Amino acid sequence: MKKPLHNCSIALGVTGSIASYKALDLASKLVQQGASVKALLTSGATKIVTPLAFTAITHKSVSVNLYDPNSDIGMDHVSVAKSINLLIIAPATANTIAKLSYGISDNPVTTTYLATKAPVLVAPAMDGNMFSNEATQTNINILKDRGVYILGPYEGHLASGMEGIGRMADTNEILEWAKLIIAKNGDMSNVKIVVTAGGTKEPLDPIRVITNRSSGKMGIAIAEAARDRGASVKLITSLDPQPNIVGVEIIDGETAEEMAIQTKLHAQMADAIIMAAAVSDWKPTDSSLAKIKKDDLSNMSLDLTKTEDIIGSINDPKLIKVAFAAETQNLLKNAKLKLTAKKLDLIVANEVKQTGSVFGSDTNKVILIDKNGREEDLPEMRKYDLGHLIIDRVKAMIEART
Ligand SMILES: Cc1cc2nc3c(=O)[nH]c(=O)nc-3n(C[C@H](O)[C@H](O)[C@H](O)COP(=O)(O)O)c2cc1C
Repeated sequence: MKKPLHNCSIALGVTGSIASYKALDLASKLVQQGASVKALLTSGATKIVTPLAFTAITHKSVSVNLYDPNSDIGMDHVSVAKSINLLIIAPATANTIAKLSYGISDNPVTTTYLATKAPVLVAPAMDGNMFSNEATQTNINILKDRGVYILGPYEGHLASGMEGIGRMADTNEILEWAKLIIAKNGDMSNVKIVVTAGGTKEPLDPIRVITNRSSGKMGIAIAEAARDRGASVKLITSLDPQPNIVGVEIIDGETAEEMAIQTKLHAQMADAIIMAAAVSDWKPTDSSLAKIKKDDLSNMSLDLTKTEDIIGSINDPKLIKVAFAAETQNLLKNAKLKLTAKKLDLIVANEVKQTGSVFGSDTNKVILIDKNGREEDLPEMRKYDLGHLIIDRVKAMIEART
């Protein structure tokens, strides 16, 4: 199972904000995603959360002061700074932000900030007036100008009992940003990928649509895998509500026609296109502007028109083309016909059981077939892991082409 932060060393600086209990949740999420996490606490933070809780979650000692001979920082005050891929300071108090801006290094958090060459992600949390104070705003702008990633704060319920700006960014969002920042040096960092996801919706009238069972999970998983390796990713999707994937540009393509327009447009700038969307093969020939009333018709019959074959219509020899074939019978035969007819580089064939069980599931069982007819029968795996495997194949094909 591929974990996005596998092999990543992250220092998590925690400061004396009431939101510091949320840093425990963040530490846990980072660990679950494969990161090695070293917690650094200011003395203010230790008044609100205990170092022991961080030790239990990260399975590492926690640094709380610079002069502790038993901590890594005590042995070498810049050792953590030198060994990390990312420093996250969450929550960051107004006080710590001011120290970072001035270069003060009087605790493990501020010293690691000053000494590290790793990227830094800061999630401020404070009372609304403290945040809007000119001093804090100036300090934050100084950090932004230095290339520090500042995430939040957001509007919401504050510890003071008031509603306002100052709430720390959600730990899921911090986690996604951490993945995005680390991915900047990934093996796909110079590659542009267009992915499509979800079943298109072909309107019958303003209320009814013809659609299919595709959940979009496979396309989203591919987009996330490509993002986690540093690719620049555009996801064209019919999904409503649209997915929010940090670092991935989401483009609306609700009908087959809209998806065709957007896909062809964005494919022009891409190195690879991966069609995971289930694009309708037909659409109603006439779509009514008003609701078709039940009483108007005793029997309803639909006149359907074929939609455009999107990937088959894109003919760019520089572009790697990958598509999916979901079939209920003659899987290999039908997938190979599609591979040739659409001039694909790779087809991902997946058999749809009568229950339709592949849709909405977090796993998938597929056979990959490349343009030379090589077949790879893969075991059932998480869609995210399959996403990485497809990206591996795309990477190899891009390298072979250049
Ligand atoms: C219960 C409590 C909650 C606090 N919450 C915040 C906060 O959310 N943001 C902030 O900037 N300061 C907050 N403070 C004030 C800081 O703890 C104080 O400025 C301290 O000097 C911060 O030190 P540090 O940045 O080294 O952790 C809080 C103080 C207390 C007593």
